[in-house]
Amino acid sequence: MQNGGRLMVVAIDGPAGAGKSTVARLLAKRLGLRYLDTGAMYRCVALRLREVGGSAADRERAEEIARAVRIEFRAGEPQRVLCDGRDVTEAIRMPEIGDLASAVSAIPGVRRALVERQREIVGAGGIVLEGRDAGTVIAPGAELKVFLTASDEERARRRCRELELRGISADFEEVLRRLRERDLQDQTRVDSPLRMAEDAVLVETDGLGIEEVVDRLARLAEDRARV
Ligand code: DC
Repeated sequence: MQNGGRLMVVAIDGPAGAGKSTVARLLAKRLGLRYLDTGAMYRCVALRLREVGGSAADRERAEEIARAVRIEFRAGEPQRVLCDGRDVTEAIRMPEIGDLASAVSAIPGVRRALVERQREIVGAGGIVLEGRDAGTVIAPGAELKVFLTASDEERARRRCRELELRGISADFEEVLRRLRERDLQDQTRVDSPLRMAEDAVLVETDGLGIEEVVDRLARLAEDRARV
């Protein structure tokens, strides 16, 4: 999808569990664009850090990993994530890796290293990217910016369903507590906190099905492409 010769960039941000990944993936497919899950990159750094016995307090080690780790995305349903040549698609989705990813994403050197790579990937356009700083930092010139959100309870319900589908038992109250903790951490960090870009479209997804959300974003993208 083109906008005056430039391939379109769609940036989707929002808190954990808002449905960004699913929506971004389906929207990219619908529009024939590439898809970038920036959160998966923070999760890869967290996974490697944990494997070497580190914690979020080991800032230098985390920064080193962020600079050196090889992260690749391969086509598939779901898209496969390779970390130093190893398929970590499932491993990076464990709740404790999500928590550690949130903690390492507050380290400026980690962000610098990953944002540089993300900007390279976004480069020529023709992509839907999602994360926490997609529209504010990685692609501030995106043709369409969306801030996707839902109530805490709705997001926790979705997370529980997702975990159960993967055979991981989930306690609603525990998932809700972790989600709120992660929101707070992502919103209050000094470097690139989660916030809505001024020119983003706010989409609240309580009570909306995935297809409805994707339809709405596809219409918005088509309108922007015509401008
Ligand atoms: O979207 P996710 O749950 O996979 O992201 C994991 C963590 O990574 C999230 O808590 C915050 C961080 N993150 C970030 O800081 N910036 C991004 N663009 C994407 C994710």
